Amino acid sequence: MDVEALKKEAGEAACAYVRSGMNVGLGTGSTVKYTILELGRLVREEGLNIVGVPTSIATKTLATEVGIPLADLDDLSGLDVVIDGTDEFDPSFQLIKGGGAALLREKVVAQASKRMVVVADERKRVNVLGAFPLPIEVTPFSHNTTRRNIESVLGCKVVMREESGVLLQTDNGNHIADAHTGASITDPEKTETALLALAGVVQVGLFNNMCDVVVLASSTGVKILEKNV
Ligand code: 5RP
Repeated sequence: MDVEALKKEAGEAACAYVRSGMNVGLGTGSTVKYTILELGRLVREEGLNIVGVPTSIATKTLATEVGIPLADLDDLSGLDVVIDGTDEFDPSFQLIKGGGAALLREKVVAQASKRMVVVADERKRVNVLGAFPLPIEVTPFSHNTTRRNIESVLGCKVVMREESGVLLQTDNGNHIADAHTGASITDPEKTETALLALAGVVQVGLFNNMCDVVVLASSTGVKILEKNV
C-alpha cells in the first residue's frame, strides 16, 4: 500500500472520535488533511454538527473550503477532542511534532482538548524519539544566539529551517530551529524543560503526556492504539 493511501485510511478512521455537538481541534499536515476532508463531507452531507478550531492558517483555509464551521479557541470553553498528525511517537505516546511548523498552535490546541487523537502510519512509530529532527520555534530576535544555546543544551547540530532560500516564518512570525539529536531523546520531559528555559525558545515540538490514542494505518489495516494508563 502506498503511503498516501495509509494517510487517507488513518485520517478518515479518526473521524469515529467525533460526534455531533463537539468542539474539535483540527491539526495540521498531510495525514490529518484526510480527517478534515471527511469531517467536511460529514458536515455537508450527513448533518454532523461540530465547531472546529484550526491549528494553522493552512488548516483554517482547508476547513473553510470544505464547510466546517470554525471558532476561535478563546470563544469556546474548551475542546472535546483534537485530531492531529505526528512526526514520531514512542511507546509511551510521547510525540515529536512540528514538521509542518505549526507546533505552537498545535500545542495550545492540544492542551485545551480533553482528548488527543493522533493519526499516523507505521513510519512514525519509533522506540526512541529523535531520528526526526526536533522542531523548536524560536524568536526572530537573536535567533542564532538561541540556536547556539540549543546546541549547547542538546549537544547536537541545530539548523535554522529555510523555505525557498529564506528563513521559514511560522504563522506566529517566528522561526524554526531543527535539532539533529538522532534517536536519543530518552527523557523527553527533561529535554522539553531544558529547552523551554532558554529565553529565545517559544515552544518545543515535544508533546509529552498529551496523546491518548494513535490511529495507525499499516499494510495490514488500521489499528487503534490506546495509551496504557
Ligand atoms: C505540523 C505537524 C504535523 O502534524 C506533522 O508534521 C505530521 O505531518 P504529516 O501528517 O504531513 O506527516 O506537526 O506541525
